[in-house]
Amino acid sequence: MAAQTLYQLNQSDIPRQWYNLAADMPNMPPPPLNPGTGQPVGPEALAPIFPMALIEQEVSRQRWTDIPEEVLDIYALWRPTPLYRARRLEKALGTPAKIFYKYEGGSPAGSHKPNTAVPQAYYNKKAGIRRIATETGAGQWGSALSFAGAMFGLDILVYMVKVSYQQKPYRRSMIKCWGGEVIPSPSDTTQAGRAILAKSPDSTGSLGIAISEAVAVAATNPDTNYALGSVLNHVLLHQSVIGLEAEKQMQMAGEYPDVVIGCCGGGSNFAGLSNAFIRNKIAGKEARIVAVEPASCPTLTKGIYAYDFGDTGQMTPLLAAHTLGHDFVPPGIHAGGLRYHAVASQTSQLFLDGLIEANAYHQVECFEAAKTFCREEGIIPAPESSHAIRQAIIEAQRAKEEGKQRVILFNLSGHGHFDMGAYDSYFAGKLPPDEMDEQGVEAALRAIAALPKPPGYTGKPAMAGR
Ligand SMILES: Cc1ncc(COP(=O)(O)O)c(C=O)c1O
Repeated sequence: MAAQTLYQLNQSDIPRQWYNLAADMPNMPPPPLNPGTGQPVGPEALAPIFPMALIEQEVSRQRWTDIPEEVLDIYALWRPTPLYRARRLEKALGTPAKIFYKYEGGSPAGSHKPNTAVPQAYYNKKAGIRRIATETGAGQWGSALSFAGAMFGLDILVYMVKVSYQQKPYRRSMIKCWGGEVIPSPSDTTQAGRAILAKSPDSTGSLGIAISEAVAVAATNPDTNYALGSVLNHVLLHQSVIGLEAEKQMQMAGEYPDVVIGCCGGGSNFAGLSNAFIRNKIAGKEARIVAVEPASCPTLTKGIYAYDFGDTGQMTPLLAAHTLGHDFVPPGIHAGGLRYHAVASQTSQLFLDGLIEANAYHQVECFEAAKTFCREEGIIPAPESSHAIRQAIIEAQRAKEEGKQRVILFNLSGHGHFDMGAYDSYFAGKLPPDEMDEQGVEAALRAIAALPKPPGYTGKPAMAGR
């Protein structure tokens, strides 16, 4: 019998409740603020663009939330997702470490994003909404929401960051397959987009700009709401299914991770996998938890902890988080889903409290890791997910140097089938430089210097360590 590599749950094991880490965190992040008054925003401020059920989840500290049957029915199209042991990769690396990965790329859209797209579409439909406007970086979120819209009969309008619109044409096609509409951002369809184009006609766009455009459409059309694919508490809540399943699957394998790893854009797949293990860590069961970001957009490792807008057009409330400044436009790297200027408030708080670590890597070294991975394990990873693989390989190599057993668990958040242009550029040695734009960050941070400061503000970045 071949050694076991696949740990598969039954459909009856799909979690029936989402887990909310806010119920167990030692310190809560400070509340979102109204930028005009500097006072905490109440649920009513979010009501014009979100359904009340999601607003309630956003502020909830309840540990468990029932997953509606209608959502479970759609989850059952691809969940539970598999947990693999990467035995061939272990062998290739010659490491004593055991490497496990949870694979979210088998969802219809090819990533973890449908885990929250489906409930967000469901609650909007239930609230009588006709259309949802959203942004997308690499196209993973836009395609996931478009899929979810098709499941519940909702129209979906996607503002896609222009550089990705050009780099990833087939993500656009996917959005259209499921009936969504897609517009490159910045666009001339909104005031926020026109303002950016007037200043920088060649702007490659950013998630911050695309969010402004989508929020503007939602705020001015009563039949349209807005949905965000990461960052917010309710998104992290929905993604908890990943970690809840992984916890059971690690038990099936008779192991517990020494280190849990996720790539980190807004923080949702990282939190999705790790929150169940952070809960155990708070209860005394030790594990290192590592968030991995791109060196060109190193929010946790080089951003400052501050109040900042979630979008470039300054339309959102102020959120306390590690940020590079809301009008920082990161270089057009291929891991488009990691090009967000800030991170989830919850993830930032965990970083401040020392419950998680963070590291940043360059895209070439991440593609290198993805190449090693796919040549052993078969699956071609999304460029975002390759950041987690890079960290997992470093951990495995370190275990080898130290001659130590180590159990490594990482999230393979998506496949890279629509990122072949990125792989082609990598193989041709033509990936553009991805150094952090120090001056761009300095300017963007100067622009938020006058905003209110959260407790714990130092004005200085955290230090990166590997
Ligand atoms: C495959 C994949 N992984 C990770 C991310 C990063 O987002 P988050 O940090 O919310 O998981 C994205 C975002 O688009 C993605 O598509």
